[in-house]
Amino acid sequence: MADQTVSSLPQSIDATLALLETGGYVADRALATVLFLSLRMKRPLFLEGEAGVGKTEIAKVLASTLDRPLIRLQCYEGLDISSAVYEWNYAAQMIEIRLDEATGIADKTAIERNVFSEKFLIRRPVLQALSGQPGRAPVFLIDELDRTDEAFEAFLLEVLSDYQVTVPELGTIVAAEPPIVIITTNRTREIHDALKRRCLYHWVDYPSAERELE
Ligand SMILES: Nc1ncnc2c1ncn2[C@@H]1O[C@H](COP(=O)(O)OP(=O)(O)OP(=O)(O)O)[C@@H](O)[C@H]1O
Ligand SMILES: [Mg+2]
Repeated sequence: MADQTVSSLPQSIDATLALLETGGYVADRALATVLFLSLRMKRPLFLEGEAGVGKTEIAKVLASTLDRPLIRLQCYEGLDISSAVYEWNYAAQMIEIRLDEATGIADKTAIERNVFSEKFLIRRPVLQALSGQPGRAPVFLIDELDRTDEAFEAFLLEVLSDYQVTVPELGTIVAAEPPIVIITTNRTREIHDALKRRCLYHWVDYPSAERELE
């Protein structure tokens, strides 16, 4: 299984460059190097740079060339757990409770166990990103992280350290295979060092004129 995981990823910096090229992405060697290392080391890639330099695009190209699902978490001010991680499907839970009552099930703990099971859990991007199978881990794009607040950043730090999330009613959900994480920011504010330390950092510049002409 481990072999399969590794073999589907590029095996060298040149192979990484070639992979990006097949996706129509113009990358310089420095970017291909840091991407190769982040894939090899299974560490998130942290991309900072001006607007329009291709930070978001690289995640899309990577997902399509590696044939992995792309899961995108677009960050914004006020992003909360229910939009980013999970939410309970209240409407479906209510219907289930009514049905249980109608059929005469009176065991409260049984009803509770039933309505707080995975069946009623709505998985938002963070939880989806932790649902990948070995060798088939998705590309998880955390886009424009600088738009969220520090509380959310702290939460992400926890997710990216252990690749797990705790849902109080269900327990801890651990990823069978960590996702390929790409974080982008436009540097409208500084991201905490603790988070950057978990990642491989790269400042994305405009490609040189020669590179673009190629
Ligand atoms: N290196 C590149 N190779 C090929 N296309 C590129 C490259 N960089 C940017 N582009 C093109 O430019 C467009 C903008 O890129 P992208 O959305 O990735 O920018 P960004 O860095 O995420 O900008 P923002 O900070 O505004 O989100 C994309 O549609 C993409 O097609
Ligand atoms: Mg972008």
